[in-house]
Amino acid sequence: MKKRLIITIDGPAGSGKSTVAAQLARRLGITYLDTGAMYRALTWAALERKICLDDASALKRLAQESCIEPAGPAGGDSPSRIRFDGRDITSEIRSPEVTDHSHKIADQPEIRAILVEQQQRIGRTVGSLVTEGRDQGTVVFPDADFKFYLDASEKCRAQRRVEQLKTNGTEVGFDEILSTQQQRDKRDSARAVGPLKIPPDGHVIETTEMDIEQVVETLYNFVIVEEREG
Ligand code: C5P
Repeated sequence: MKKRLIITIDGPAGSGKSTVAAQLARRLGITYLDTGAMYRALTWAALERKICLDDASALKRLAQESCIEPAGPAGGDSPSRIRFDGRDITSEIRSPEVTDHSHKIADQPEIRAILVEQQQRIGRTVGSLVTEGRDQGTVVFPDADFKFYLDASEKCRAQRRVEQLKTNGTEVGFDEILSTQQQRDKRDSARAVGPLKIPPDGHVIETTEMDIEQVVETLYNFVIVEEREG
C-alpha cells in the first residue's frame, strides 16, 4: 500500500460512520479520526466553564488555548478516546446535553477554521488515516485518496440509534429519536461553512439494507482493489 493514504467518510447522523471508520482503520492498520468528537469536546468544555455558546470570541479563545487530543481506540458506544487538556472525556462528550448543544459550536466559522487546521495537522503527522465527519472530503482533505459518503433512510438511521441506546441501557422512543435526527440533518446541511454534502468525487454507499460488517467489507474491498490496480 501507498506510504500515505487518506480516506474520508462523511454522512448524516446515524449513518454508521463512526463504527465503520473505526473498523476500516483497524483492518487497514492506520489511524482513525472522529472529528465529531473534537466538536463535542469543545462543547463539553464550554458547558463546563459556563461559557455562553453565543459568545464567539470567548469560544474562539477556548479553542485556541485548549489541547484536544483524539487518542486511540475505545470500546462501547465510543469508537475512539479523546482528551481535553489531558483529561479523558470520552464518555462525557456522549451526554445528551453535549449532543444537543454541539451544533452551536459547529456552526461557528472561526471555530471550524481552528479545528480544520488541527485535523489537517493530524493528517500530516500520522500520514495515513480514516477520518470521519461532515466536511472531511469537501473541506478538510479535498485531495484524499478515497472519499466515501455513507447514507441510509432516515427511518433506518433512527431505528439503529434506538437499538444502540437500548444496548447501552437507555430506552428512547422511535418518534423522539426521529424528530431530533431530522433537526440535526437540517442543521448539518444548512450550515454556512462546512455543511454536510456529498463530495463531487465521493462514492455514495447506501447502507439501508446492509449491516456494519457488509459496509466495512465494501469499503475495504474498494480501497484494496483500487490500490492494487493503481
Ligand atoms: O458526528 P457527531 O454527532 O459526533 O458530531 C457532533 C457535532 O459536530 C454535530 O453537531 C455535527 O454536525 C458536528 N460536526 C461537524 N463537522 C464534522 C464533524 C461533526 O460540524 N466534521
